[in-house]
Amino acid sequence: MCGIFGIVFQKEHEDLGRIMVQAAYSLTYRGYDSVGCAAISTEGRIDLRKDIGRVEEVDGKYGLSGMRGIRGLVQLRWATFGVPAQRNSQPHLDCDGDLVGAHNGNVINTISLREQFSEEGHTIRGENDGEIIVHAVERHFDRLSDLPGAIMAAVGDLKGDYAYVISHQAENAIYAVKMGSSLYLGVGEGFVCVSSDLPSILELTSNIVTIRDGEFLRFSWDQYQLFDIHSGQPIERRPERSPHTKESAHKGGHAHFMIKEIREQPEKVANLLHFLEESAELPRFTEALRKAGRLFLVGSGTSYHACLVGSYYFNKLAGLAAIPVPAGAMVEQYGDSLRPDDVLLCVSQSGETKDVINVLNYCERRRLGQALAFVNVLGSTLSMRSRNFLPLVCDLEISVPATKTFTNQLVLFLAVANALAGGGKVNLQAIPGLIEDTLAQTEPRIRQLAQELLPVNDFYFLGYGLTHGIAYEGALKTKEVVYNHCEGAYSSEFKHGPLAIVYPGYPVIFISTVEDAEMVSSHINEVSCRRGRVITVAPPQPLLEKYSSDFIALPVEDYFHVPIAATIPLQLLAYYMSVGRGIDPDFPRNISKTLTVD
Ligand code: M6R
Repeated sequence: MCGIFGIVFQKEHEDLGRIMVQAAYSLTYRGYDSVGCAAISTEGRIDLRKDIGRVEEVDGKYGLSGMRGIRGLVQLRWATFGVPAQRNSQPHLDCDGDLVGAHNGNVINTISLREQFSEEGHTIRGENDGEIIVHAVERHFDRLSDLPGAIMAAVGDLKGDYAYVISHQAENAIYAVKMGSSLYLGVGEGFVCVSSDLPSILELTSNIVTIRDGEFLRFSWDQYQLFDIHSGQPIERRPERSPHTKESAHKGGHAHFMIKEIREQPEKVANLLHFLEESAELPRFTEALRKAGRLFLVGSGTSYHACLVGSYYFNKLAGLAAIPVPAGAMVEQYGDSLRPDDVLLCVSQSGETKDVINVLNYCERRRLGQALAFVNVLGSTLSMRSRNFLPLVCDLEISVPATKTFTNQLVLFLAVANALAGGGKVNLQAIPGLIEDTLAQTEPRIRQLAQELLPVNDFYFLGYGLTHGIAYEGALKTKEVVYNHCEGAYSSEFKHGPLAIVYPGYPVIFISTVEDAEMVSSHINEVSCRRGRVITVAPPQPLLEKYSSDFIALPVEDYFHVPIAATIPLQLLAYYMSVGRGIDPDFPRNISKTLTVD
């Protein structure tokens, strides 16, 4: 998705260009197709440079790093309204070039506003919704000659979820608005900055002010003022020290963020367990779950797969029925039957995924269902709007494919299910060590397997019971970074149609616990007797080993640990296949880390 950044210095800064390019780089993990920077001099001259391409390409072509000025705006665009083209790249100027602004998110009534503004005589240069925001502010500014007033009035024109930054050449300040998309403010020594994403701020300062929906702010180099966008009332909020570190935004000697984040999982799980031991949050959380009428587990993509596994943990450990639902389907599938005492446990790494936020909005509007959350990014919309949340304690996850946050989502589900069961049913403390052992013991064979599977463009992942969600996740990870067609399915379902695909050598990856070995080996036989290539990921088990062409042994004994351990070789397989195909796994084509659109 798009990313925005804005900064104001005390005086003209010769490094402004370098700082803007650095901010642009730290926004790249969201996925993008265009880059733009606007530098504004002390006298108010706006220098705007932008185009389609990667940051290094646009920097090389237009010399972004050399831009100078006292304030700057940066935008990375992921095309929605308007094709990737220079005219649609951001930031945008207004008609007479004294306002410059850039946005993140979607203005859904862009097409009708473009017609309306054109009829009013505005010069609209492209098709992008960010440009429409600048003109919406401009038309009120022309009338009111007051930028805060114009920003407040423009809210009435713009429909959708967005955040934006805007600056007038004559005022050494930047205004920023949050209406549904993420926005953070950073207060540093000699500057104040704002961004859609924490990593670009953490490079400069860890004093963060979280902005809420329906708020806007004005900031200069040494102060900021926060306001309610509807009433104009000032809001007091002081900066807090962010618990996220800037180290998480660096590869630290690894070839990619993805492998760094896979390898740091033992440490991240240990940090999560430490948090759970020290804090009073877990009992509060489980209490709220116990009181739930019905319990829905809601997430998208990888986070939905964690919900799938979580539903098995809740069932098997606590005898609690929990309904896993993809966030994008929740309102359609269950919206009309929701009741006030239902609980929706929303799971999200970013805490900004639009499909999840839509569910929150729906429940809030109708006063139905109470939202709890598992979330990684503190200060995100989900963390602020849920009644109660548990953090994933993963630090920032940069690579687009979710890895460490998925594992911590599983561990959190396991910890909550264990607590709901009265505690003591699962050895949580053993998990960091078992992930470490799994990494060490499976990585060499997985690297070979990745090479062997490189020519194959299509395969299946099958799970049963606890490993159901892991099969889905294995397939998603592979699709995402290898661009293979993969499916994840419940292993009992395979014979109901997909089995027809199997030809001699066709790879099917089974994930099993020891306890399910008898059932799963029957599913394995259905594939192996058709000479499909069966690759099994499971703890050592004679029956499973006997019927598999390849066996990836997991060094675990506890049934409940298997989904967590099995995740590791599947992440590694996707990673090594991706690298083997020459793909950059951190930035897969077409997708983005945080999906803030419908
Ligand atoms: O930030 P979220 O957990 O809400 O993101 C949900 C999905 O977009 C995300 O998990 C996506 O599927 C991952 N890129 C998969 O690796």
